[in-house]
Amino acid sequence: MRCIRFPEVEADPSVDTVARGVSLYRQESCDAIIGFGGGSPIDCAKGIAASIGEGLPIESFVGTGRVFSAPVPPLVAIPTTAGTGTEVTNAAVFTLLDEGGTRRKKGTSGITLFPRAAIVDPELQMSMPPSLTAATGMDALTHAVEAYVSRMHTPMSDTFCLESIRLIGRSLRTACRHGEDVEARSDMALAAMYAGVALSQASLGMVHGFAHAAGAMANLPHGLANAILLPYVMESLISDAGTRLAAIGDALTGRHDCSPADSVEAIRELNDAIGIPRSLSEAGVDSTLFEPMLADALGYRRRKASPRDFTDDELREVFARAFSGR
Ligand SMILES: [Fe+2]
Repeated sequence: MRCIRFPEVEADPSVDTVARGVSLYRQESCDAIIGFGGGSPIDCAKGIAASIGEGLPIESFVGTGRVFSAPVPPLVAIPTTAGTGTEVTNAAVFTLLDEGGTRRKKGTSGITLFPRAAIVDPELQMSMPPSLTAATGMDALTHAVEAYVSRMHTPMSDTFCLESIRLIGRSLRTACRHGEDVEARSDMALAAMYAGVALSQASLGMVHGFAHAAGAMANLPHGLANAILLPYVMESLISDAGTRLAAIGDALTGRHDCSPADSVEAIRELNDAIGIPRSLSEAGVDSTLFEPMLADALGYRRRKASPRDFTDDELREVFARAFSGR
């Protein structure tokens, strides 16, 4: 058996990178794809598989509403990070330029984007440095929190969310401090996968709405953007999803008496413990990007799964707090 490598996948893969992968696949007469690495290589592999199956470039689907329907080549996902959960989801995210030349991150989903198989081995994730472990782990936590408070949640997605949150509360600090701890790495590998199962069913909310804008325009790593934004968005949902937010705190801390505000505080304490900045400006995002990122989030990143129908002014206020840390 012959294996052709395609290692030129950048973070947040562009549709052009996917197109180059498609050309290589055809040129080498490949018959299956292995997505090996973090979320970006696996999403790129999904894009290549979908493009090959459909006979169309991936941008024909991203943000267009066109539905994936054609069978795709066999795709096996092997994650080396514990975060996106893309190894078990029907979604993928790509970067492309819009008509005005602005860089956008856009997600797309469809049943054919589920990998045929996933090999999830925590030993492949042990070489992640602490900062990557922290950011990707907080991406998984954000998936579990947003899917748990989602309007589209189900009893099944709830179960996956709460177990994911419990595992992250138990093991993310250890995985960051002692990367060789295989039990902590196993917990995080499972947590990311469980959260991926949940988000495929219940979808995500405005943390991801903002984080995609921050990723595309400020080059902020996805997990880091989510980690910073998560407590601010949770705070803004206390009147809409208080009971569920309290349950998140209980699962994360092992307590049985968390208030919604305690849960937000528990997220902040976790962020502090693993070295996540308190605000986007502290993370180095330039203040001139505030308005373009907000416009991006207001323009097309509203999430129907969000438990609150935010007004534009409310979203501006949440984003301003996440930006300044006040
Ligand atoms: Fe995410």
